Amino acid sequence: MNILILGSGGRESAFAWKVAQSAHCDKLFIAPGNAGTTQYGTNVNIKVTDFEGIKALVLKEDINLVLVGPEEPLVKGVHDFFLADEQLKNIPVVGPQQEGAQLEGSKDFSKQFMERHNIPTAAYRTFTKDTLQDGLTYLATAGLPVVLKADGLAAGKGVLICLTLEEAQTELTAMLADAKFGEASSRVVVEQFLTGIELSVFVMTDGNSYKILPEAKDYKRIGEGDTGLNTGGMGSISPVPFADAAYMKKVEEGVITPTIEGLKKDGIPYKGFIFIGLMNSNGEPWVIEYNCRMGDPETESVMRRIDSDFVDLLLGVAEGNLNEKEIIISPKTAATVVMVAGGYPGEYLKNKVITGTENVRDSIVFHAGTSMDGNDVITTGGRVLAITTVQDNMFSALQQATADASRIYYDGMYFRKDIGFDLL
Ligand code: AMP
Ligand code: GLY
Repeated sequence: MNILILGSGGRESAFAWKVAQSAHCDKLFIAPGNAGTTQYGTNVNIKVTDFEGIKALVLKEDINLVLVGPEEPLVKGVHDFFLADEQLKNIPVVGPQQEGAQLEGSKDFSKQFMERHNIPTAAYRTFTKDTLQDGLTYLATAGLPVVLKADGLAAGKGVLICLTLEEAQTELTAMLADAKFGEASSRVVVEQFLTGIELSVFVMTDGNSYKILPEAKDYKRIGEGDTGLNTGGMGSISPVPFADAAYMKKVEEGVITPTIEGLKKDGIPYKGFIFIGLMNSNGEPWVIEYNCRMGDPETESVMRRIDSDFVDLLLGVAEGNLNEKEIIISPKTAATVVMVAGGYPGEYLKNKVITGTENVRDSIVFHAGTSMDGNDVITTGGRVLAITTVQDNMFSALQQATADASRIYYDGMYFRKDIGFDLL
């Protein structure tokens, strides 16, 4: 069968690497892809939100399955677009329809969903411009720190953790009255701050049954020792030692099952991934957020620990027989170190030539923000490469990924050398 992956980051590179190995896969296309995805398939320069362009490609190349990487096309309804089109309606899309994608597309929707289905999450209230005064009063009674979240998608920037009441009131006003995040902050969720260690849990579902994929830990801050500004993700590791069988049982019973059952009770169809961002507080899982897609750079580590045919699992999702499929998970440790552009996550350097990838010994170099310039591979994004290795134990995995990252060079390159070492 012919498969199309939508997206252009490290996550989509890891998907493409895994999908290309499947016995089910004849031709693989990636739209738009990056300089690295051409190793696994054919790049087609179409934007993930250009639904008409995607339609033309699917028909021209006789695509039989579409795997959606990022949230934006899902929240904008790419799956619904397929279902509503006579020529596309029988071509399966892995990724939820617009209603299910609201789990990520609206923080208020996801908080109401969790409340309705008794899924543990931080206490919250939602405010709009009309109820700004109530919000300011509420903040005065809420504990500190307090978390403000723009309701809609805000390119990962819509969450503010405020340490003082003054800061919280100023920011709430900026979000609601001055549209700090545009339409995305026309509603704001104010929630209690949770302490603990974060964990990314991934579930694949056909809307009825589900499979739990390997869990991972993501490192969001730019600086070593988890300091400095937030980024899209600087590295990941899987498995995560504290997420042992007993802990994952709590996650399954307290969070995953009620989430899948909740979707069913609410009549929300869902075929795709659910990424559950958890806070482990004293051994108890609390849901920080849902995403309607896989995480990046978690996917790079997760794909390397799935030993079974990934397309077979995608077909289970598409055809509604996921319960009949088997997922084989490697007991080894996968580690990913993300290499970023100089200046990232602020203004960053671009168009720098990348050298040394041929010196990498025992990792896969997944491309993220790269393009071709003649025969050169150049940097075009903030997150440039994701270096992923699998080893028998955690220490070797962390060492190998870090050592391999240091074999690559481009002007201004930076990566964290401490990914995963806090867990040893
Ligand atoms: P989100 O966009 O919901 O993923 O939030 C971004 C990040 O903010 C999360 O990954 C957490 O690190 C942090 N965060 C969000 N909500 C909370 C909370 N209630 N308590 C503590 N940290 C939070
Ligand atoms: N690694 C976090 C995310 O993909 O949102």
